[in-house]
Amino acid sequence: MESALDYQTAGALLEWQHELGVTDAIGDAPIDRYALPDAAPWLQKKQAPASAKAVTPAPEQQEDPVKVAEEAARRAETLEGLRAAMGAFELCELKKGARNLVFCDGVAGARVMIIGEAPGRDEDREGRPFVGRAGQLLDRMLAAVNLSREASVYITNVLPWRPPQNRDPKSEEIAMMQPFLRRHVELAAPDFIVLMGNISCQAVLGRRGITRLRGNWAEAYGRPVLPMCHPAYLLRQPIAKREAWADLLSLQAKLKGAS
Ligand code: URA
Repeated sequence: MESALDYQTAGALLEWQHELGVTDAIGDAPIDRYALPDAAPWLQKKQAPASAKAVTPAPEQQEDPVKVAEEAARRAETLEGLRAAMGAFELCELKKGARNLVFCDGVAGARVMIIGEAPGRDEDREGRPFVGRAGQLLDRMLAAVNLSREASVYITNVLPWRPPQNRDPKSEEIAMMQPFLRRHVELAAPDFIVLMGNISCQAVLGRRGITRLRGNWAEAYGRPVLPMCHPAYLLRQPIAKREAWADLLSLQAKLKGAS
């Protein structure tokens, strides 16, 4: 893009913002400020003629993101194929603000699949789910029942891209990524699924209310599903760790075929 700012001025402006404490972009999608006439008056003369401007397609011509996702997910025949299909999916605005696609971690084919909510800052940076503080707690919780992402658990999230400022995912974002999640479960084929937190319960069970749902086995995608409190919640409410422990024991019993 041609810019009215020279390299040094742009660098100085960036440095100034950094000194003011700016650390993150806060919009859902990058904004082309040069395309906003009011925000960039010095560029007004250079704007493209109206005929060259992008035209928003009429509603009937716009793609339905859920249908596009369904088709892309259906075509994926392997986990790697699914990762590529998600990476090529352009209809979720979150992708534009994220550094990395966060697809999975752990052992493909493990008996336990954990579904979290969405990447945070650390996960966005590393491209792996649950690597921040909540993830470290998750690792300790798993270790307490002899499970680990290195040996026995497969991990993913409802959304593969970080929402800005870690805001809750919107229902339309969940809806358009749902087909990929369903296919992810089919391809990973776990025996048991653990849903971490409300967003995962909403996406998979269509229900929220984790304090009531937690600990109660349900069924989704033809598999037993256990809702649990999210590790980030446990960091804020350590008192809830007692119930999380009970839930982990329930998972362990299922794995041993005891209930
Ligand atoms: N919280 C989640 O739900 N998922 C992650 O990957 C990190 C934090």
